[in-house]
Amino acid sequence: MGQVLDQFAAECHDILKQDSSDSGLEKVRQGLEKFLVSDEVLNEHLGPNADSERNIIYEDAELGFCIIAHVYKGPKESGPHDHGPAWAIYGQAKGETKMNEYDVLQAPADGNPGKVKVAKTYSMTPGVAVAYGVGKVHSPTRTASTHLIRMEGMNMGKVKRDKFEMA
Ligand SMILES: [Fe+2]
Repeated sequence: MGQVLDQFAAECHDILKQDSSDSGLEKVRQGLEKFLVSDEVLNEHLGPNADSERNIIYEDAELGFCIIAHVYKGPKESGPHDHGPAWAIYGQAKGETKMNEYDVLQAPADGNPGKVKVAKTYSMTPGVAVAYGVGKVHSPTRTASTHLIRMEGMNMGKVKRDKFEMA
């Protein structure tokens, strides 16, 4: 693990151990914006040899949060989703992501998808990180390859998710 990652992960651990509310998340988001533009991220975790769609570069043994390096190739449109019981922070390192955020008009229930409508749309460019609290529905779209560092409140590879569709 690189020195900059070591330090960032330790900072996040200290912040989230004390305060995992929105204000703690905001401090982590600000730290991620600095981490994103570090030489270590750009040369190593998302450097020329990185090619994994989902590479967990840190998983906190005590609190469960993860720091994940993503190399996404080519264009892709994703559907509206939340991260179940977990928060998420998206950090753009290279390329551009068009993000939608949604209002939930009807929660998912009994296996039926929730109903949502677009609340806002914005562009994420390198150095920008945005936090999505638990239940905040969003969808990223890219028109070309992107590199992201994302954080999740827990390893979402292990968690089942609800579905959402446009109202
Ligand atoms: Fe997401």
